Amino acid sequence: MQQFGIGLAGMGNVGAGVYKHLLRNRALLRERLGYEMNVQRIAVRDITKPRGCDVPAELLTTDWRSLLEDPSIHIIVELMGCKEESLALILGAIERRKMVVTGNKALLAEHGKEIFEAALRHKVPVFFEAAVGGGIPIIKALREAFVANHIQSIHGIVNGTSNFILTMMTENGLGFADALRQAQDAGYAEADPSLDVNGGDAAHKAIILASLAYGFWVPPEKVFVEGIEHLTANDITFTRKLGYRIKLLAIIKAEAGEIEVRVHPTLIPEAHVLASVNHVFNAMAVRGDIVGESLFYGRGAGQDATSSAVISDLVEAADALESPRRHLGFMPHGLYGTCKPIDQICSEYYLRLTVEDRPGVIAEVAGILGSLQIGISSILQPEAAEGDVASLALMLHTASNAQISTALTRLSALSCVKKPPRMIRVEHFS
Ligand code: HSE
Repeated sequence: MQQFGIGLAGMGNVGAGVYKHLLRNRALLRERLGYEMNVQRIAVRDITKPRGCDVPAELLTTDWRSLLEDPSIHIIVELMGCKEESLALILGAIERRKMVVTGNKALLAEHGKEIFEAALRHKVPVFFEAAVGGGIPIIKALREAFVANHIQSIHGIVNGTSNFILTMMTENGLGFADALRQAQDAGYAEADPSLDVNGGDAAHKAIILASLAYGFWVPPEKVFVEGIEHLTANDITFTRKLGYRIKLLAIIKAEAGEIEVRVHPTLIPEAHVLASVNHVFNAMAVRGDIVGESLFYGRGAGQDATSSAVISDLVEAADALESPRRHLGFMPHGLYGTCKPIDQICSEYYLRLTVEDRPGVIAEVAGILGSLQIGISSILQPEAAEGDVASLALMLHTASNAQISTALTRLSALSCVKKPPRMIRVEHFS
């Protein structure tokens, strides 16, 4: 039976899962594929660290470069999760015509162009299903199942940790810090959890999805990113009363060849299916011009789900070794290529103001919004006045980022506005 050799670089949470599940489902894989995949060598930083599974000591090395020079290794799995070393390993593997599997979303978001230029030059595919959505096969779906479609939009909950935190805050009334700690204990959060809560990790994934959907690597500076770290219990309570849930949403849209990519806390109607995606689960609603709307749902983080995606890539890589393929994981094309300037991106908005409780205040607020051509769809005063201040919750019609930024600056300067205004974007999926 044919044998393929794997070099595993990185044995953290996901790497250990890949090793464990390759062994656990070895017979199933062999029966389905007709070949064997063997881990030949594993590069780790610290050989003595416990891995949560039995790994023969002779497989371990601290020298990741040695994987490149080992002729028994046909596929490199990069799960080191760093920048320079991961990039050097991937480019080194491509040059040596070893297939590459990676889950390194930050690296792809920043260096996808360079990596896939090398892949095209050397005709070596790079697979990255584990980079977005954990175990959900969203990359293969965009690449293969929807190949006939212009992708009109993708709305995604793509960061499990922030979704877990928002769920804990919404359903259990937990504080932000306690909810984050629980996510870290469960192994969902990044080594640096600020990337989970400041939208950085979701932005990396949004860049990968958008790039795949539109055939060019989206420059990170063209992506609007805002995290969940400033959301308060009040935001959650008020928006629930209005019939919405808050989700950290990646929103990707295309119109007339121009695309927009953004990540921010978003009010979505509680009746929308994405509003019931909770805990560490991820989901993506994809709209294609032929297929219409499709929904993907599953575990977006964690050892088992992510290693399932890595192993599916390993199988694709092994298949590519057997019969060379035209598609190298990402196929660039020129049908799109420009990103809408962030100031021109339009949305509806929720605005919460803490204002003096006296006649004329609403007129002052409405005056500023009106002067900027921003329409108000509803105003609520959700709570009784506390002393001489009151809360106002306003729902605003569609306006550009430039309009709302100016409105926030002008509203902050009003003497009747007592705290910095809170603004959250709203998506109705129409
Ligand atoms: N920290 C990431 C998340 C892990 O919470 O979604 C999966 O990419």
